[in-house]
Amino acid sequence: MLEVVEDAAALAGALARVGERGAVQLVPTMGALHAGHEALVGAAAAGGPVVVSVFVNPLQFDDPADLAAYPRQLEADLERAEAAGAALCFAPSVEAMYPAGRPQVHVEPGPLGAVLEGASRPGHFAGVATVVTKLLAAVRPARALFGEKDYQQLVLVRRLVADLSFPVEVVGVPTVREADGLALSSRNGRLSPSERAAAPALYGALVAGRDVLVAGGAPSVAEAAMAARLAEEGQVVTDYAVVRAAADLGEVSDQAVAGELRLLVAARVGSVRLLDNLGVAR
Ligand code: PAF
Repeated sequence: MLEVVEDAAALAGALARVGERGAVQLVPTMGALHAGHEALVGAAAAGGPVVVSVFVNPLQFDDPADLAAYPRQLEADLERAEAAGAALCFAPSVEAMYPAGRPQVHVEPGPLGAVLEGASRPGHFAGVATVVTKLLAAVRPARALFGEKDYQQLVLVRRLVADLSFPVEVVGVPTVREADGLALSSRNGRLSPSERAAAPALYGALVAGRDVLVAGGAPSVAEAAMAARLAEEGQVVTDYAVVRAAADLGEVSDQAVAGELRLLVAARVGSVRLLDNLGVAR
């Protein structure tokens, strides 16, 4: 049965019990769990008992309206987490997570935090890096699993763990998609029916860009193909559609493009900001 704890002291006791069953696996979430999170828990469970954290982290929201609108549904989340095989849920309040109020000391995400999502959402990755650091310190998992859907976050967490010497393996889990290609996201529920119909354009753009690269086309041509596909949808306002090095999200020139690449798009569909990405090796 799923155990639920709400503060660090209760977490320590629960971890001692759960840890007897094997190497602890952490799946950090902001709740509103869906099949993508279930895939994370399923992948985690192969390694040992799974701790799911559910915490809507105010530090990573640059827009108060976005924070207010973020879905909160703990009861449903607990049911999903248990059905997916989690052993423990850590669901702290904001006061339990940040007892002294907004932290004066936070984790500076460096250059990775300033590009793409970081450029569009100032402070977002400092908030992510700070809360992930606190979760890793509190749970001390053997592995922590993150969805590839938030690819920049995954790359940043890998770098954080390497730079700050956390003894944890970071595992990326492939994106789960709807039948029409739309990546599962807690934000999808906020799309109107017509916006929902337009939203698969993000995946369509990624596939168009990937096809260019696979056929030997240059990254700049792939980026143009992605932009053109997104522009076909009147309700989609593109933020970025780029090809980057998969390992560190560095820019790639049209001349030197061997290795793993990542196509990344971000766009606003109505008032909802959506992200997606796809990998390709050349
Ligand atoms: O990906 C998320 O849900 C969040 O950014 C995370 C990693 C749980 C940190 O709040």
